Amino acid sequence: MIIGTVKEVKNNEFRVGLTPSAVREYIHHGHSVLVETNAGLNSGFTNDDYVKAGAKIIKTALEVWNTSDMIVKVKEPLESEFGYLREGLLLYTYLHLAANEALTKALIESKTQSIAYETIELEDHSLPCLKPMSEVAGRLGAIEGAKYLEKPFGGSGVLISGVPGVDQAKVSIIGAGVVGENALKMLVGMGAKVTILDINLKKLTYLDDLYGNRIQTMYSSSDNIERIVKDSDLVIGAVLLPGAKAPKLIKRSYYKDMRPGSVIVDVAIDQGGSTEVSKATYHDNPTYVVDGIIHYSVANMPGAVPRTSTIALNNATLKYGLMIADLGLDVAMNESLPLKKGINVYHGNCTCPGVCEAFGLPLIEI
Ligand SMILES: NC(=O)c1ccc[n+]([C@@H]2O[C@H](COP(=O)([O-])OP(=O)(O)OC[C@H]3O[C@@H](n4cnc5c(N)ncnc54)[C@H](O)[C@@H]3O)[C@@H](O)[C@H]2O)c1
Repeated sequence: MIIGTVKEVKNNEFRVGLTPSAVREYIHHGHSVLVETNAGLNSGFTNDDYVKAGAKIIKTALEVWNTSDMIVKVKEPLESEFGYLREGLLLYTYLHLAANEALTKALIESKTQSIAYETIELEDHSLPCLKPMSEVAGRLGAIEGAKYLEKPFGGSGVLISGVPGVDQAKVSIIGAGVVGENALKMLVGMGAKVTILDINLKKLTYLDDLYGNRIQTMYSSSDNIERIVKDSDLVIGAVLLPGAKAPKLIKRSYYKDMRPGSVIVDVAIDQGGSTEVSKATYHDNPTYVVDGIIHYSVANMPGAVPRTSTIALNNATLKYGLMIADLGLDVAMNESLPLKKGINVYHGNCTCPGVCEAFGLPLIEI
């Protein structure tokens, strides 16, 4: 099979679909790989790195799209890329179709065989190709939170670790899933005083066993959230209700009791955010201030660390990409139920329940 990857065209998207190491794997499996010139530069991979891995560098995106059997990307195609879609082309990338009717239509009408990273689902309902980005966002959230507490960034001027004789920062993490756990790991390492809240007692028990009295676990009731948030220097919002908008657990009325310059890192912003004033921001202007409280709410946090994110993403996506390339989509999906769940558009039919529901399309079972 001919596999192609192109330069991402979305604003501030610096990741790339294939690392040189992933290219080498496809080549070892007997496939050819085309890479648009400079596609990997923003992630620190040069054309030469790809050539050494066995890829062919191609001058234009058009040629890569037209010559490849499967395009491996990071973000969904933008309107400027819709013209590249065609019948039988395999498209393997993040799609988030339930929020994008125009793209859903374009994929259906062009009969592009579309596999979305975010709907590949394991038996235990975990999402293996989303997980690495949550790991990045959780860890980065801790770093950004500590940074925006600094006075030059508008913060309250609290050092996350404190120093001998001075209190460390008080941090609350709401949601103990992948983002929450990864933020916790960083913040404990940085010496913060952390309380982590969730409604899942099993997770709290697990974290209590893991960290003992170095952290405080707490059931996520409205009372507890109010009490803990008001007393926090830094709050990390990391809740997920699968398939639904994030609940607005952090009320604006709490802000007047918080220290001015305290920070809320609203990681769940891609699901609408956890505060009553949540709005998405971008890396070029990542924060806004409401009632003296700094809100960091970048919806695409992993884009700030594209090299780490690209490698982490490839570690998760390569396995399924190779299955598609080696076996063809039809055989591969019969051998792997997780991969089958990743298929959103199949021969011009919508096959993802959430997307069909969002746009009133008939759900076709493959
Ligand atoms: N901004 C970004 O760049 C970025 C990147 C990755 C993930 N995210 C988002 O971060 C959020 C968390 O993702 P995740 O991978 O950690 O999800 P996850 O499913 O692993 O964890 C979510 C946790 O929230 C808990 N929860 C649900 N309701 C709660 C409540 N009322 N109070 C406290 N906890 C509650 C769940 O029990 C679960 O433990 C999601 O919205 C995800 O889309 C954002």
